[in-house]
Amino acid sequence: MQSVPSSLAHLSCSRCEQLYDADEVHRFCSCGGPLYPRYQLDQIKWTPDQLANRPGGLWRYADLLPVRGPEHRLCLGEGGTPLLRLGRMGAHLGLDELLAKDEGLNPTGSFKARGLCMAVSRARELGISTLSIPTAGNAGSAMAAYCARGGMRAVIYVPAETPPEFLTEYRDLGASVTVVDGTISDAGAQMKRESEDDWFPVSTLQEPYRLEGKKTMGLELAEQLGWELPDVILYPTGGGTGLLGMWKAFDELETIGMIDSRRPRMIAVQADGCAPIVRAFDAGLESAEPWQNATTVANGLRVPTAFADREILQVLRASKGTAVMVEDDAMLEMLRRLAAVEGIYAAPEAAATLVAAQRLVEDGAICRDERVVTFLTGNAYKYLSSLA
Ligand SMILES: Cc1ncc(COP(=O)(O)O)c(C=O)c1O
Repeated sequence: MQSVPSSLAHLSCSRCEQLYDADEVHRFCSCGGPLYPRYQLDQIKWTPDQLANRPGGLWRYADLLPVRGPEHRLCLGEGGTPLLRLGRMGAHLGLDELLAKDEGLNPTGSFKARGLCMAVSRARELGISTLSIPTAGNAGSAMAAYCARGGMRAVIYVPAETPPEFLTEYRDLGASVTVVDGTISDAGAQMKRESEDDWFPVSTLQEPYRLEGKKTMGLELAEQLGWELPDVILYPTGGGTGLLGMWKAFDELETIGMIDSRRPRMIAVQADGCAPIVRAFDAGLESAEPWQNATTVANGLRVPTAFADREILQVLRASKGTAVMVEDDAMLEMLRRLAAVEGIYAAPEAAATLVAAQRLVEDGAICRDERVVTFLTGNAYKYLSSLA
């Protein structure tokens, strides 16, 4: 069943709608916008029963994913993460139905496996052999793992503040690693300066396919909820690929007739030491200014400039959602509470979403009887040196 053909049609710019050939190598649009893969959706005939017979994991949705050749679909067991009911945590936050998608169970311990599984698989299919990435931590792990799996070379640029567990993992996975003073933006700038001709950069939304891997969080969530989306989704937002990917998944699911037009309110959660999207959202702006002196224990949220800031802000507004920032102390306290009351040892980024949920319930922006889903995007194990 994993050999169902991809229905990939072409790439289109999310800003100016210019079309690109999907079977050529492209990064982003000449206007600077992210390129979104588009599919022949009229060829996709899913029914709940038919999908139920497919194997588990991310590749069960192969017809709505961009990799054409089954032999290029790299697999380390990604996707198919559980949607867990958090009864005690829900009661603590004042919610009757709090559900958590535990993405820390993915290969290399985070949801980054989904995006990088897709980007690496598709790059390999298009004949690329060396991938480069600036990373806040988890994306580097995932890229290194999938490159190793695909027999490809991984080149990683990482901020010096990243916990050392990540660096050990990158090296053991065979990647070349450069440690950079500053944030992920500085790492990206240095990578650009030092880039060699055969490196293909897979920076967030600067290539079309990581988005498609992240999209599978939205597909899985819809399927796990019986094709009825929740009222609210909380998502820890750095570059925002997950948020945009899920939104795209919902649009595609509506087009192929699997869901109706109702959408969850999408809530972007950031750290108060780096909250460019929250600031722009609150100010009613269409794009976000870079955040100066970004600092937070949640590495994944230490993203001063999101390449797709416009698209993220559009989704928050279109969904009637919002953006919330959370202090590091509150995140860490919540991380420990979640571990102690539910047995889930999640990354600080993930814990931040629960602090945000608590505040939105207190403010009346989320009602007790709404169905709320939070994305626990990674596990805490590689952050231990920053937690002790
Ligand atoms: C655990 C975790 N959560 C959330 C994020 C933010 O993800 P995105 O860049 O897709 O917004 C990251 C990014 O590194 C992360 O590692």
